[in-house]
Amino acid sequence: MRVITFGTFDVFHVGHVNILERARALGDELYVGVSSDKLNYSKKGRPPIYSEHDRIRIIDALSCVDFVFLEESLEQKPDYIQQYHADILVMGDDWQGQFDELSDLCQIKYLPRTPSISTTEIIEVVRHIEPEEE
Ligand code: CTP
Repeated sequence: MRVITFGTFDVFHVGHVNILERARALGDELYVGVSSDKLNYSKKGRPPIYSEHDRIRIIDALSCVDFVFLEESLEQKPDYIQQYHADILVMGDDWQGQFDELSDLCQIKYLPRTPSISTTEIIEVVRHIEPEEE
């Protein structure tokens, strides 16, 4: 069974590795669509911290990941699912219900997010760290 999932995976953190490992455990192969810098900008209104090149490089280095590709548009999910012959689409439950219309193409599974961590939160925390006085 081939599993496919999508995400930005910017400022890679433990929530990312958790969902990728759990997605991989649902099948025999994991394909990951990493959203392009352009798509990320249109989705989140800011450029990612890490470039698409570096985000792909990081995801590709994980032992739970078999293949990585660039996700150029959210609307192309059905095309990617068919192009890569995916059997299961995994998304975090922040997307609960939003991809149910693709269930004629493959199984859809929403996995619970890891609590208390996100890229946006990490960026906010780092932004507000005051330099220590000497
Ligand atoms: N994810 C997760 N647990 C978290 C954070 C993310 O399971 N704590 C999952 C998301 O549900 C998604 C994948 O990781 O399936 C990639 O999410 P992404 O949007 O790249 O990460 P976030 O940390 O949610 O980024 P942001 O804060 O910018 O939205």
